[in-house]
Amino acid sequence: MASSDSNAQDFRQPDFNKPDFNKPDFNKLYVEHLSTLEQRADQALSRAGFDHLVVPSGTLHYQVFDDRDYPYAVNPQFKAWLPLTRVPNSWLVYTPGDKPKVVYYQPFDYWHVVPDAPSGWWVDHFDIAIIRKPEEALQHLPKDAARCAILGEPQSALGAFVPNNPEAAIDYLEYQRSYKTPYEIAMMREAQRKAVRGHRAAERAFRAGASEFGIHLAYCQAVGQDAGELPYNNIVALNEHGAVLHYTELGRLPPKPVRSFLIDAGASFHGYASDITRTYAADTSGEYQALIDAVDAAQIDMGRKVRAGADYKQLHIDAHLTLSGILKDFGVIKVSPEAALATGVSSAFFPHGLGHPIGLQVHDVAGFAESDRGGKIPRPEGHPYLRMTRKLEPGMVVTIEPGIYFIDMLLDEVKNNGHADSVDWTRIDAFRPFGGIRIEDDVQCTDGEPVNLTRPAFAEAAA
Ligand code: GLY
Ligand code: MN
Repeated sequence: MASSDSNAQDFRQPDFNKPDFNKPDFNKLYVEHLSTLEQRADQALSRAGFDHLVVPSGTLHYQVFDDRDYPYAVNPQFKAWLPLTRVPNSWLVYTPGDKPKVVYYQPFDYWHVVPDAPSGWWVDHFDIAIIRKPEEALQHLPKDAARCAILGEPQSALGAFVPNNPEAAIDYLEYQRSYKTPYEIAMMREAQRKAVRGHRAAERAFRAGASEFGIHLAYCQAVGQDAGELPYNNIVALNEHGAVLHYTELGRLPPKPVRSFLIDAGASFHGYASDITRTYAADTSGEYQALIDAVDAAQIDMGRKVRAGADYKQLHIDAHLTLSGILKDFGVIKVSPEAALATGVSSAFFPHGLGHPIGLQVHDVAGFAESDRGGKIPRPEGHPYLRMTRKLEPGMVVTIEPGIYFIDMLLDEVKNNGHADSVDWTRIDAFRPFGGIRIEDDVQCTDGEPVNLTRPAFAEAAA
């Protein structure tokens, strides 16, 4: 039993969000990471025809007619360079051949906690200028704004430094971000460990009869992150709610009886995300558990296909066939997997994509990129929600998240489209009260065997 998550109600936890900057391996990995980023930036600047890369961290945004700010979200182009996710009004400046610079906003402010003084594995590698007011950044940015590729949102504009987001630079940087550095993989592994602590606490809360809201709180407590720090809103769904793909309502009372539980929840680590889904049955010896087990086994198998050269579009189509085979085995559909795919019946049960790239963003960029010079690889016709159409290459990390759902709206379409005979409706009635099943891991493509980043974190926590 791992001591760290054996008591989800222990409020004396360390602050998991405080950087553990002393880990020596992160230090070493970061040096290599930075060198890769500099090479990429050199190439991006040369392609776009600029001399400096300038990246604002972003600003606070305010609610309309109000003085309340929305949760701050750092510019991903900024956090790609720095393990800093809570320093609005700061800037990164990179000029080829020079040491990169951080303009670090640390205001005099007695209303809020101000960012700590710069510390950690990154500081030795940057010139750092501390500013107390946002406009002081101007003194530290390059002389000629017209020679800068400025990557950011319009609200970050400061004087002449208006984000111009040159397409050639963005296309190149986003495409290259698909290839994770060893530093990034290490960050993502930590994000797995955190999320797994939450998943284990969530399962315990479910088995103890907690509501969706209670399960969510148990998750956050075990991860040590609140909703604003997680990489996306927790999906915590009991019973039929599992049929809503992004169910985020968090019911305050548990339904009676509780039959099933789907949780899709991740964690953040220095700006990197994990994205994990598990599904549980209350009755672990019933037919729904058997259906979960079948999807789980298929999911493991799909993860093994994350190999260099494999076309992700094809993996998605193969997943339709596999899931249709399971539906046939369980008597839910009466036609062959091939027929279910051809008629769109499989999409009624599996209406989303097999997965997506993941990294600094939970749905990471460049899933459709044709090359680092732009262009888009289209989705296969009839699969409008697939978020990854590229061939897999070493260094990429993708999610593999097959699912089977019982969604009335989509099942009505099957009937209306003349395919009612493909389905055994008594079996739908039997499974509808359980909602749906999704199993999701994050998997790294390598030169050889794929590396499932998620499953070892569960095994480690259970040891
Ligand atoms: N974790 C939610 C999603 O991938 O859409
Ligand atoms: Mn996902």
